[in-house]
Amino acid sequence: MAGISRTEAYSVFLLVCLFLSFSEARDHLVGGKSDAWRIPSSESDTLNHWAQKSRFLIGDSLVWEYDATKDSVLQVTKRDYVTCNTSTPIETYTGGSTKVKLEHSGPYYFISGAEGHCKKGQKLIVVVMSEKHRRFIRVSPAPSPAEIEGPAIAPAPTSAAGRLGGGFFMLALGVLLVVM
Ligand SMILES: *[C@@H]1O[C@H](CO)[C@@H](O)[C@H](O)[C@H]1NC(C)=O
Repeated sequence: MAGISRTEAYSVFLLVCLFLSFSEARDHLVGGKSDAWRIPSSESDTLNHWAQKSRFLIGDSLVWEYDATKDSVLQVTKRDYVTCNTSTPIETYTGGSTKVKLEHSGPYYFISGAEGHCKKGQKLIVVVMSEKHRRFIRVSPAPSPAEIEGPAIAPAPTSAAGRLGGGFFMLALGVLLVVM
């Protein structure tokens, strides 16, 4: 067969797997569309509904697009989120195009800065997953009792990147060996 060989094809596959294993931080457009930062039209249209369908990881960013003359984004405490208290936000974002980087795991609370909008449901909780929940395919077998009790065993890579890269690398290698 002319063109690329099987080996080359699977080498490319391997590289793609490696690339995916170090996937980039993502930007999440809040609500999934540019006019979504507004009072929800129904219970099923809330921003929290949208947020529950997404995975937020440390390093990702939230992006809001809204009419700067009518609205703003306030990052608030849980208490101010619940009570829709706009008087002392943690951060105030204005300007119509707001980007917030998610620096830590756990919940982030946002409400609209427009008068009365939060009470009508224009609010958002985003829960950022911790490092250990990052996308990760486990391929290494569970250690045997001998390994656990044995003396000096070389430690497995412990950094998240090492685990991720290692996982995908082993997966790709496994596929390569099975197919060739
Ligand atoms: C809003 O929060 C501020 C600061 O915590 C507080 O002084 C104020 O009473 C709160 N307003 C309402 C309506 O709860």
